[in-house]
Amino acid sequence: MAEPLVVVEDVQKHYGDFHALKDINLTVNRGEVVVVIGPSGSGKSTLCRTINRLETITSGSISIDGKKLPEEGKGLANLRADVGMVFQSFNLFSHLTILENITLGPIKVRGLKKAQAESEAHVLLDRVGVDKQANKLPAQLSGGQQQRVAIARALAMRPKVMLFDEPTSALDPEMINEVLDVMVGLAKEGMTMVVVTHEMGFARKAADRVVFMSEGEIVEEATPDQFFTNPQSSRAKDFLSKLITH
Ligand SMILES: Nc1ncnc2c1ncn2[C@@H]1O[C@H](COP(=O)(O)OP(=O)(O)O)[C@@H](O)[C@H]1O
Ligand SMILES: [Mg+2]
Repeated sequence: MAEPLVVVEDVQKHYGDFHALKDINLTVNRGEVVVVIGPSGSGKSTLCRTINRLETITSGSISIDGKKLPEEGKGLANLRADVGMVFQSFNLFSHLTILENITLGPIKVRGLKKAQAESEAHVLLDRVGVDKQANKLPAQLSGGQQQRVAIARALAMRPKVMLFDEPTSALDPEMINEVLDVMVGLAKEGMTMVVVTHEMGFARKAADRVVFMSEGEIVEEATPDQFFTNPQSSRAKDFLSKLITH
């Protein structure tokens, strides 16, 4: 049975006069992997940022695991802990070691003791293949390693859903796969994921569903196979033809 985990209903988002999200309806079920693709400026990041309430919405509603997104306060902090986010830029604290970057949230927000937080952190760092780097500073790691640390940091909060916003776009090509491999592993383990990416190989391998956005709207939703072999809208066809020629 499909269990809705993220439910976005009739969401409108304006930045001043600009209509950035137009009547978005999207349900992500528990354990589902949804890949969001679309041209630059189509609203993909805005959608991610509204789901974890980094951005307010103009109207509509968003709920996570049956709970409506609160406006602010402790409810919001709890909700943020339910939603892990990984951005294009890794946003690690540069003055903290890798281990400290991971344990900070669990100690402050989950209330773990330092020893417990560190032991959980080592398990996560091992899982993403960077436990040997635990005592280094972020600048001493490659971009691919830093992004894997960012994934571990998000997982350390025990999120119910993970949002990835173009997690490999800032990486050198040879580091893309090491990050995608971690994400494929997470998907296989049943993590609920919303992934904005242009990596079609990842979409084909890991996505249950592809959502195609253009100009603030969801234009198509389909299985990866349907979407890549037989896109329905002219906007999707146009987008895919441009991807393939590069
Ligand atoms: N804080 C903001 N203020 C005004 N306009 C914004 C803001 N953030 C994004 N936009 C606009 O909203 C549109 C969608 O942006 P974004 O969600 O970043 O698109 P994508 O991630 O698909 O490239 C763009 O036209 C962008 O210029
Ligand atoms: Mg974006």
